[in-house]
Order: sequence, then structure tokens, then C-alpha cells
Amino acid sequence: MAGSIRARVFMYFMLSAALIVSAFGIITYNFILGNIESEMENRILSAGRIIASGINPGDIQMIRLKGKVYSGYRDKLINLKEVLKVRDIFIIEPGSGNIILSTLDEGGKYYIKVDRYEINRALSGISSSSRLYAGRGGEYFKAGYIPVKNKNTVAGAVGVEASVEYLHYVSRYRLFLIVLGAVSIAAALILAFIISSGITVPLRRLKEKAEKLSRRDFSEKIETKAGGEIKILADAMENMRVEVKQYVEKRDKMADVGEFSAGVAHEIRNSLGVLLGYAELINEKAEDEKIKKYSADIIKNTLKMSEFINNFLAYTKDFAADKQDADMGKLVEEAVFELPENVKNMVIINNAKPGLHACVDTYLIKKALYNVALNAYQALDKDKKEIEIKTGEENGEAYISVKDNGAGIKSENIKKIYQPFFTGRKEGHGLGLAIAYKIIHQAHGGDIKVFSEEGKGTEFKLFVGKKSDV
Ligand SMILES: Nc1ncnc2c1ncn2[C@@H]1O[C@H](COP(=O)(O)OP(=O)(O)OP(=O)(O)O)[C@@H](O)[C@H]1O
Ligand SMILES: [Mg+2]
Repeated sequence: MAGSIRARVFMYFMLSAALIVSAFGIITYNFILGNIESEMENRILSAGRIIASGINPGDIQMIRLKGKVYSGYRDKLINLKEVLKVRDIFIIEPGSGNIILSTLDEGGKYYIKVDRYEINRALSGISSSSRLYAGRGGEYFKAGYIPVKNKNTVAGAVGVEASVEYLHYVSRYRLFLIVLGAVSIAAALILAFIISSGITVPLRRLKEKAEKLSRRDFSEKIETKAGGEIKILADAMENMRVEVKQYVEKRDKMADVGEFSAGVAHEIRNSLGVLLGYAELINEKAEDEKIKKYSADIIKNTLKMSEFINNFLAYTKDFAADKQDADMGKLVEEAVFELPENVKNMVIINNAKPGLHACVDTYLIKKALYNVALNAYQALDKDKKEIEIKTGEENGEAYISVKDNGAGIKSENIKKIYQPFFTGRKEGHGLGLAIAYKIIHQAHGGDIKVFSEEGKGTEFKLFVGKKSDV
């Protein structure tokens, strides 16, 4: 996670720096270039007009002959070239559009072909200038073409070509932009490193502390020097640490209490056995009606007490399952057979999936089923009382369903029904479902699903594990 935050911060910073610098560079560069270009256009066109006004239109034909007139104009133009600080001045004849005089010694100009459009415009009487172009040596040039007019006709054109000296500055500016870009990106990287370290270092420390918590080491307080969201996270983790610490300490204490209670319950069960034995003996031997009644009460309450103690002891011990492949239909039939007679009378077995097999501890599953079926019976409140038990399979998981048309469970109680000692019955101890839950979840790795509607009834589905093929 830390790596990705750092990578993202780096990326954002680099992208922003690159974007800002390049946008700034492109805008200012084009602005400067546009200004230079228009200034240069003015310069070459006004120089060209002065030169054109100094050319006698009638001389253009003579210049072609390369005689005295030619030499005179050439000398004049070379002087002007020095004064005006341009690169070349040349004269173009009408018709062919060829250069008939140039202040340079070199031959035909390579750009003349490119500037054909501007030359034709000048020869038709309109001054025009070429775009700025880079010469062979990397220098920038621009050429202006001005018509030499003879009253209404165009006798030829003057070309003025200037190289842009200030473009050195533009090139330097470009270099400056590149350096600025590189420096900004480097600065962005350093900044990104500092900022991302400010996030990732405290996060890494928090992660180490979270790992300590997961190893059940709650000794170290969780705090951070960082602010903002990281501090909020650290504070939340500190709250969690305190709460989990208290919970674990309480749970450990409860475990001690549980172990102690189980010991006490064991002792009580032994004594209850003795008590029951004597009560039965007295009941058998007594002739006095009152003694018979009292001893019968003792027997009844002792039996109730011993059922509770048995359930309590069943709940406190860990169930180690002895699993074997079992036919679920058969298992249900046996379990129903072992139910008390009054419960059994209400049960309809609806074996939806004959031959369904699963690997289970039949003794424990029967015990869980007994508790769930007994609850169903105790919830029956209609004239027509029904409990339907069936087996089935969902997504490869075998289940046993116990469905009654009893009172249903209040929605606010649904979450509590598996808690030990939660009961909604006057006579209940709240251990039946806690035991069933342990048997299904702990011993079989299964699940219990409950569907209940108040006033209508309840269905418990005990998922006992993967169905097995036979
Ligand atoms: N089929 C059901 N219909 C309606 N309520 C139910 C049903 N099954 C369970 N309950 C509710 O869940 C509570 C908890 O059930 P659980 O079996 O754990 O305890 P109990 O039946 O009260 O006592 P014990 O089973 O220890 O004698 C019940 O008291 C009852 O309120
Ligand atoms: Mg019960």
C-alpha cells in the first residue's frame, strides 16, 4: 500500500510539474515567436519598399543583360544590405519569376520554389512575406517580396531576406525552458519524496502496530506524530486496541469462571444423583400421602436441575466430532424416534432428498436436532400443530430443516438466540441452541440458518457439511 501511495504522489507531482512547465513554455514561446515574426515582417517590408522605390522600373530589363546597369544596382544594393543589416536583397523579373540580381554570390535560392505563392502575389502587385523558416545552419529566415511598379503595371519585384538575430535569444529561451522543466521535475520529485515519506513512514509504523495487535500484543499504545487523516486512523486504532484489550481480558476471566463453574456443576450433578436416589426411595417406601407428594416434587425438580446441569456441562465442553458417512434420511428417522412422545406426535418427516449422504457425527447431530425440535414443539401455539422435518441440499451442502407453525421469533431476538443463557421461555435455560450452534459450527464446520415470521412459524436449517457421493 505504502509503495502505491508513494508512486501515486510521485506521478501526480511529476505530471503537474510537466504540465505547468510545458503549458507555460508553449504559450510564452509562441507569444515571443509571434511578436518577433510580426516585427520582422514590418522591418523587411518597409526596407523592401524603400529599395523598390529606388529602382527604376525601366531598368529591370537592362539588369537582365548583366551589363553596367546590373553592376550599378548590385553595388547599390550591397551597400544597402550592409546598412539595413539584412542577409540578401534580390530582384525578380516578371513572367518567369526568376532572380535576375542577388547581393549574394551563391546560385539559385533553394527557398524560392517554396515562396512561389508570395512571389506571384508580389508580381501581381501585392507585397507579401514568407513564413519564418529555419535555414540549413539552424538559423531562422524570413523573406519579403515587394512589387516594383511602373504606373499600373508591375515591372518586377524586390526580395529582401533577413535572418533573425533575436532568434538566438528565442533559442536560448527554449533552452531555458528545457532546463526549467528539468529543474521543476527534479524539484517535484524531491517534494514528492518528502511528502510521500510524510505519509508512508507513519503508515508503515501503524501497519507494524496493527501486526502486533494481530499477534495479541496489546501492550504498546498506538500514537502518531503525523496529523490529519493518519492521526484519525491512529486514534481509531488506539480505541480499537483498548477495546480489544479489555474484551480479551474479560474473555480470559470468563474462561476462568467457566472452567470453575463447570467444576462446580460437575460436583452438583454427583450430589443430585444421590439426592434423586434417596427421594425415589422415600417416595417408594412412604405411606403418608404428604410425604409421597413432597418426595415426588423433589424428584421432579431434581430431574429438571440435572437436565440443566447436563446441558450446561454439554455446552462447556469442546465437542470432538467422530465423523462417519451417514444417510441423512435415516439419521432424521432415528433422531425423531428418540424424541419425547408428545413431540414425536407433531412431527411429519418429509424426506425431500432420499439417499442424501454426508460425513457427520450422528450422535452430535441427533443432539442438535433434538434441541431444535424441542424448541419447535415448545413454540407451537395453534390448534393445528405441525413440525416438518426434512433433508435437502444447497450448493453441495447437506442440510436438515426443522419447520414449525408456532409463535415465531421476534426479529430483535434473532441475533441473540444462540447466546448461552438467552431464553424467551419461563422454563427455559437458554442452552439448547447454544449447544446446537457449537455442534454445527465447531464440530462440523457447518452453519445454521433461521427463517422466522412472528405469528406464523420458524424454520431452522442445519447445514452439516458437504454432501458426499455414494
Ligand atoms: N422454533 C422456535 N420458535 C420460536 N422461538 C424459538 C424457536 N427456537 C428457539 N426459540 C427462541 O429461542 C430461545 C432460545 O432457545 P434455546 O433452545 O437456546 O433455549 P431454551 O429453549 O429457552 O432453553 P433450553 O433449550 O436450554 O431448555 C427460546 O427460548 C425461544 O424464545
Ligand atoms: Mg431449547
